[in-house]
Amino acid sequence: MEIKAEGIARTFFRKGRGTNFFYAVHPTDLTLRSGTLTAVVGKSGSGKTTLANMLCGLLRPTEGRVLFGGENVYAWDDRRRSEWRSRKIGVVPQVSSGLQSLTVLENVVLPSAMYGGADRTGFARELLKTLGVAELSDVYAGELSGGEARRMAVARALINVPELIVADEPTGDLDPEMTRTVFGLLRNAAEKGAAVLLITHEENAAAFADRVFVMEKGTLSPGF
Ligand SMILES: Nc1ncnc2c1ncn2[C@@H]1O[C@H](COP(=O)(O)OP(=O)(O)OP(=O)(O)O)[C@@H](O)[C@H]1O
Ligand SMILES: [Mg+2]
Repeated sequence: MEIKAEGIARTFFRKGRGTNFFYAVHPTDLTLRSGTLTAVVGKSGSGKTTLANMLCGLLRPTEGRVLFGGENVYAWDDRRRSEWRSRKIGVVPQVSSGLQSLTVLENVVLPSAMYGGADRTGFARELLKTLGVAELSDVYAGELSGGEARRMAVARALINVPELIVADEPTGDLDPEMTRTVFGLLRNAAEKGAAVLLITHEENAAAFADRVFVMEKGTLSPGF
C-alpha cells in the first residue's frame, strides 16, 4: 500500500497578509509507503498540519492529487472518503478531539465499532496499558489532562491497525519516557506494515524514523 501526493498545495485567504492570499503548502510530491516511518519537522506555522490533513483526507488541496491505490481520494464523495478514513487511516490530531461524553475506553474502541468490525476491546485495554493510562479506562474523556488525552488519542489512532497513520505532534504534552513509548508504538506499527507520518519537534524522532523531512515556509525538503 502507498499513499501518493502529486503536486499537492494549499492556499488560504486571510486578512492582514498583504495579498490576502498565501501558500500554506507549496506544490509537494510525497509518497508514504507501507513499512516506512516518515518524520516531518519544522517551525510553527510552516505548514506541517496543513500537509498532514491533506494526506489523510481531511483537507482538500487547492492543487494536485492524493492517490490511494491509484485512486484520487478527493474525487470521491464525502461519504466514501470518510469511510475510507475510518477504515484505513489512524489520525492523532494535533488538537485532541475525543468525545467528552464517552469514557476513555469507549473513545478508543469507537473507530473499530463504526463499521461493524470485530470487538477490539481487549486490544484497546492493551494499548491503554502500554500508554500508562489503563486506570483511566472508565473516566470520561472530558476529565483528562492534556497528556492523558493525547495518549487516549494515540490508542484510538492505532485501534484499527490502520494502513496509514498520521500523528501530528503526538507527544506534545508527554515526558521523555512516554515519548519513547509512543514513538516505539509508531515504529512497531510501521514494522507491521503501516505507512506512518510523524510530525514532531522531538530531536530524537530521527532515531525512530526511516527518513526525515523539513518543512520551511510551506516547502518540504529532505532532512538528515
Ligand atoms: N484554515 C486556515 N485559514 C487560514 N490560514 C490558515 C488556516 N490553517 C492554517 N493556516 C495558516 O497556514 C500556515 C500553516 O499552518 P499549519 O497549521 O499547517 O502550521 P504547522 O507547521 O502545523 O504549525 P504548528 O507547529 O504551530 O502546529 C500558518 O500560517 C497558519 O496560520
Ligand atoms: Mg501543526
